[in-house]
Amino acid sequence: MNTVIIGCQWGDEGKGKIVDLLALKNDVVVRFQGGNNAGHTVVVKDKTYKLHLIPSGILYPGKVCILGNGVVIAPDALLQEMESLVQAGHSMDSLYISERAHVIMPYHRAMDALEEKIKGDSKIGTTGRGIGPSYSDKVARCGIRMVDLLEADTLRKKLRSVFLSKEKIFQAWQEAWPFSLDDLVEKYTSYGKQLQSHIVDTSLLLEKLLKQKKTALFEGAQGTFLDIDYGSYPFVTSSNTLAGNACSGSGIGPTQIHKVLGVAKAYTTRVGEGVFPAELKNAIGDTLRSQGKEFGTTTGRPRRCGWLDLVMLKTAIRLNGINELCITKLDVLKGLSSIQICSGYSYKGSRLESIPASDEVYQKIEPIYETVNGWNEDISSCISFSDLPKNCQEYIKKIEKFLEIPVTLVSVGPERNQTIEHS
Ligand code: GDP
Ligand code: IMO
Ligand code: MG
Repeated sequence: MNTVIIGCQWGDEGKGKIVDLLALKNDVVVRFQGGNNAGHTVVVKDKTYKLHLIPSGILYPGKVCILGNGVVIAPDALLQEMESLVQAGHSMDSLYISERAHVIMPYHRAMDALEEKIKGDSKIGTTGRGIGPSYSDKVARCGIRMVDLLEADTLRKKLRSVFLSKEKIFQAWQEAWPFSLDDLVEKYTSYGKQLQSHIVDTSLLLEKLLKQKKTALFEGAQGTFLDIDYGSYPFVTSSNTLAGNACSGSGIGPTQIHKVLGVAKAYTTRVGEGVFPAELKNAIGDTLRSQGKEFGTTTGRPRRCGWLDLVMLKTAIRLNGINELCITKLDVLKGLSSIQICSGYSYKGSRLESIPASDEVYQKIEPIYETVNGWNEDISSCISFSDLPKNCQEYIKKIEKFLEIPVTLVSVGPERNQTIEHS
């Protein structure tokens, strides 16, 4: 059984923890989109790992970890991440990188910064990792791919034509263009040499593994509402984050996916700019941020916090074909006398049936809330659903009823064993 694990909100739902947990019972873990804008935290006993590119299965020896063709890769960041994992005692022998994955070049990071500067007040609040510009070049058919790093002449030819156009853009904005063709060719072919043994046709590799009845997890990065098509555009990331892209982002067909597990926080957070109907710009929001340690794994920015938004979750279930849900960080809601849940949106006095496509309209909708009772107990050491306080159980049951989907996993802390299976 092959499973896609997808974030149902604006990222940071705890996907890394859940992928790490489920990797134990699977053979292969595949990243299929995004790049090192992702920050997936995995806590194993007294060690905390912050993974940005490498799939969260890497912590178990022998699991095959794949960076699929849909990922954008900064080789410098990847090599650093590999090195720090090696230092921590983990082997990189079964890490494979698609030869078709696009490369994030230093000029993509510079372009990311420039685009944000030009946008001024309308900036996206990107992670600054060059994600958007790298995907833009992919679509504009002037990207550099991992396979190009293995051949100096090819790389030079491609970079020469990139330089011709990009240098002019920087000049027009009176920005420095500090890149030298020779330096880039030298540096990036050296990265190619260091990564050569890992760069393969990962679609072919996956096919072989699946034929041997190995099971795969597809690790989503970002979340449903950062999706380039269905997210809160333009305040989104530059890839399709939805479950459907697990196929084209890793070179398999839809018949190879058997299950989609959605991961959602028991409340909502967002990093960067954009709409957030259930946002709490008050003391409760501050409490969620401090109790939930809501600071970005990649950029360290404080995450904006708000109530659980069931309109978003219902939409995420539809867009991803989610069959089961995992609710994380339930422990963080402890100590609130009452909890609100957004169960609808109203616009100009009428209830909306779906999330508006127009960001201008979405900004103006009013959340409709239902109020439920909170709990004071620390639930972080609960090991079964029946251990949870009554109101806590009711909260989960309410989510299941509204969404018409089972919540099969409840996470009550960052560690592997702080996870409750629920049938
Ligand atoms: P991801 O990007 O979806 O993998 O999520 P992040 O790792 O960016 O953010 C989730 C954070 O919450 C990490 O610091 C996790 O260690 C932590 N975490 C995950 N699940 C739980 C949980 O159930 N309770 C608490 N308190 N923390 C959790
Ligand atoms: P994980 O995988 C939360 C956000 C950025 C910004 C927008 C675009 O850890 O859940 P980008 O650099 O991608 O062009 O930025 O997307 N963003 C994330 N927010 N978690 C992430 O990843 C994110 N990756 C990108 O903050 O608003
Ligand atoms: Mg994260």
